[in-house]
Amino acid sequence: IRVFVPRDTTALSLGADAVAKRLAREAAARHEGIDIVRNGSRGLFWLEPLVEVETPKGRVAYGPVTPSDVPALLDSGLLEGGVGHPLALGPVDEIDYLARQQRLTFARIGVTDPLSLDEYRAHRGFAGLEAALALSPQAIVDEVKASGLRGRGGAAFPTGIKWQTVLNAQADRKYIVCNADEGDSGTFADRLAMECDPFMLIEGMTIAGLAVGATQGYIYLRSEYPLAKEILDEAILRAEAEGYLGDDIRDSGRAFHLEVRLGAGAYICGEETSLLESLEGKRGLVRFKPPLPAIEGLFGQPTVVNNVLSLAAVPFILAEGGQAYAQYGMGRSKGTLALQLAGNVKRGGLVELAFGTTLRTLMEEFGGGTLSGRPLRAVQVGGPLCAYLPESQWDMPLDYETFASVGAGVVMFDDRVDMAEQARFSMEFCKAESCGKCTPCRIGSTRGVEVIDRIRKGENRVANLALLADLCETMVDGSLCAMGGMTPFPVQSALRHFSEDFQRPASGEH
Ligand code: NAI
Ligand code: SF4
Repeated sequence: IRVFVPRDTTALSLGADAVAKRLAREAAARHEGIDIVRNGSRGLFWLEPLVEVETPKGRVAYGPVTPSDVPALLDSGLLEGGVGHPLALGPVDEIDYLARQQRLTFARIGVTDPLSLDEYRAHRGFAGLEAALALSPQAIVDEVKASGLRGRGGAAFPTGIKWQTVLNAQADRKYIVCNADEGDSGTFADRLAMECDPFMLIEGMTIAGLAVGATQGYIYLRSEYPLAKEILDEAILRAEAEGYLGDDIRDSGRAFHLEVRLGAGAYICGEETSLLESLEGKRGLVRFKPPLPAIEGLFGQPTVVNNVLSLAAVPFILAEGGQAYAQYGMGRSKGTLALQLAGNVKRGGLVELAFGTTLRTLMEEFGGGTLSGRPLRAVQVGGPLCAYLPESQWDMPLDYETFASVGAGVVMFDDRVDMAEQARFSMEFCKAESCGKCTPCRIGSTRGVEVIDRIRKGENRVANLALLADLCETMVDGSLCAMGGMTPFPVQSALRHFSEDFQRPASGEH
């Protein structure tokens, strides 16, 4: 009997190892032959550790399971998929949160053992690479263009056009760089993709290499993800051993090599040019653009820099066709979006849906409202540099045209949030993480913290509010990259939608 206990960081942090051990011990004591498979998480975090049992009728789920629940679960028929225990959730595919999703990129997570090539292949793995090997580089790029895929790192630049630029560039050496420096608040989808389905990223990067004529790829991974590193390293070795990477991919005579490189903890290294500096072994200082990395990127060579989720979408696109992907979504926002519910939320986790859903659906129907049970007040979508959205904006369909930056964390706040404190946090964050290259960001963020403190103390409120508005404008207009250029967005949105919070004294001392 196969029993699944996840092994990704979230499940581990909630005690999945201890649950797996207890299951093995209790089953042995009862002379039950079980095979414990360490799968990835399904992304239903409030149910982790989520234990699943394979039955003739499909997989049946139990969660959240603690080691001390194990004996009673076994007594109530866990190994037969019994539903007599309070933690029994029934068939996993029928759990509403999961059943309502449209999982294209995350179709395999939680289903397979992340490091099993056999299971990967059994679930359409490498079908995209096999298809790509039969195509010309231009035909691969055309397929990605047809899918309408746009960069999932936030800027939403069309992936096919980026690849075309690199394909057209003349150079002896080109690179594929995966931006896996997932640093935004409330985000975990990149980590889930890497820990729970690493071959998908390897396949996507290899296809990108074939498309543009690059033979070397790097995954730039944040150092805070040691388990992802371990899993990716092992997956790369296994893919090489079976000819999916290396000098002669699947006897095609075409080469692609892949390595994981660790960052050192700077948020700004998620910006593509400072990421490249860091990969080259230098301090992560933002470069001027142009030249674009697509023309002069890593070591001055044409380079595709794509986010994990952009590259992870590629195997599906090549396997099923660009049109199959483009059927999902709305307008110019094609395909699906990996939304990550976090913050003050009852049911946090990953929700993959076609573009076009609303924040209210996400936060209420999937998230189940706040964990505190208090009314929702604000939500920040897209990371610490993005605006705080009030209720009036929760019913608009989520797509790139409506929201400047979608696809990252959806961080929820209840009615106890102090939005002036949140605004201060934005400036403080920028102060800590600025690369220091340009003045509006380096100095402006420090002055921003000071001005907000003065406003909160009630000093010359009117003049200081005007000064803050002015400072925000200067940072937006005068910063070199999104760090300084977007830091004012949360501040401005807090001022616009939650101005009452700036009228009362600070709740804490700074
Ligand atoms: P950008 O708009 O300058 O560029 C987007 C991408 O398209 C880059 O990779 C750029 O090199 C490429 N590109 C632009 N024109 C091209 C062309 N003609 N040919 C080929 N490639 C081309 O945006 P940038 O500065 O890379 O990122 C800013 C965005 O990042 C913000 O809009 C924000 O949404 C997002 N962001 C994401 C964060 C995250 O952690 N995921 C954190 C902070 C911001
Ligand atoms: Fe560096 Fe900030 Fe300027 Fe970006 S905006 S280049 S992070 S100083």
